[in-house]
Amino acid sequence: MLKDKKIIIGITAGIAAYKIPYLIRLLIKEGAEVKVIMTPAARDFVTPLTIAVLSKNPCLTEPFERIDGSWNSHVELGNWADLFLIAPATATSLGKMANGIADNLLLATYLAAKCPVYFAPSMDIDMYQHPSTQKNIETLQSFGNKFIAPNSGELASGLCGPGRISEPEDILEILKSHFQVKQSFSKKKVLISAGPTVESIDPVRYISNHSSGLMGYKLAEEFADRGASVTLVSGPTNLKTNYPSINLIDVVSAEEMYHSCIDNFQSSDICIMSAAVSDFKAETIEVSKIKKEKNLSTINLVPTKDILSELGKRKSKNQVLIGFALETDNEFSNAKKKLKNKNLDLIVLNSLKDKGAGFKQKTNKISIIDNEGEIMNFGLKSKEDVAKDIADKIYDFMQTSIFE
Ligand code: CTP
Repeated sequence: MLKDKKIIIGITAGIAAYKIPYLIRLLIKEGAEVKVIMTPAARDFVTPLTIAVLSKNPCLTEPFERIDGSWNSHVELGNWADLFLIAPATATSLGKMANGIADNLLLATYLAAKCPVYFAPSMDIDMYQHPSTQKNIETLQSFGNKFIAPNSGELASGLCGPGRISEPEDILEILKSHFQVKQSFSKKKVLISAGPTVESIDPVRYISNHSSGLMGYKLAEEFADRGASVTLVSGPTNLKTNYPSINLIDVVSAEEMYHSCIDNFQSSDICIMSAAVSDFKAETIEVSKIKKEKNLSTINLVPTKDILSELGKRKSKNQVLIGFALETDNEFSNAKKKLKNKNLDLIVLNSLKDKGAGFKQKTNKISIIDNEGEIMNFGLKSKEDVAKDIADKIYDFMQTSIFE
């Protein structure tokens, strides 16, 4: 998987830098092309000569050479790489990366890089657990950067806990699987709906639900990571996504979501409807605020269009259609009914009875049911990992003869 892949390794000034020459050796053995950028302080931990010999390229630190003014262009480096790994990533460098501070060649290249970025923090336990470090890690993940979690164990200080950089062999496996996974949905177009819809009653009030949209956004990012071009039709959420391969279409009402999904459906290979669409809307939206003196005790509701059902009717045999079912009772039989009635290939079931699953949670617990009634159950996981499970299942499903 790594043959001819262009990898930049950024080494920042932590004691775990001593493990990176071995990682470089492993990458070179796999046939990767490796360039290394060190921060000035990292040279106190490993020598540029060791790095240059092992990587077969000059070890870069300065933006330009003082003697002849020749320039190490961060922009060219950023464009050259297929992948940028920052390891070890110290607390200081994480803070600078999260805040756009580019005061050395490594950080300027980080800001210029268009390729996927992985970062492997390493530091003492207290520094690692400090809220500012944790916040910076979260910020970097929200930029789409991939976090390689440190191991727990004895640290250079003698303390024990999380902070040890992941072992070079493990980092190598992560990079290999990155390139393997990256290709699994290349050239595929994926349409995803996410979040709630908001149905106005008057200029002030509305009908909606508690969906945060997180599951749909994590799905969009997972498919983008696997090489797909993604259209994400999102109801109002507090979420952002910075992936260039995600085309975000913001909508408010079920009617708007319906039109965006219909418009984008025909050109899609895979369609996942994870939005919590309002089933009803007010029959008429009042132009002025309804005053309480009116003693209004009922609002006439009419059903919204069922987007997924409509897509199920229009589905061609080369398209894969996936729905979600959020249930509180008779979960499996209700989900199976939706799968059949809406002409789906797969349905993802979450039960609100499961602790940690459903709306407003960072975690989810799902079962996936296929169109032959087979059920796969998964444990409680982060929504990011749930998105991986769903993408893996769709990939397996598409390996069947119809989609070959
Ligand atoms: N869905 C949709 N359009 C609607 C309602 C639901 O596209 N107007 C989709 C959801 O995005 C989800 C699936 O249909 O993928 C099931 O949604 P859910 O709310 O669980 O079921 P409903 O069909 O609305 O039925 P009920 O609310 O009675 O359970």
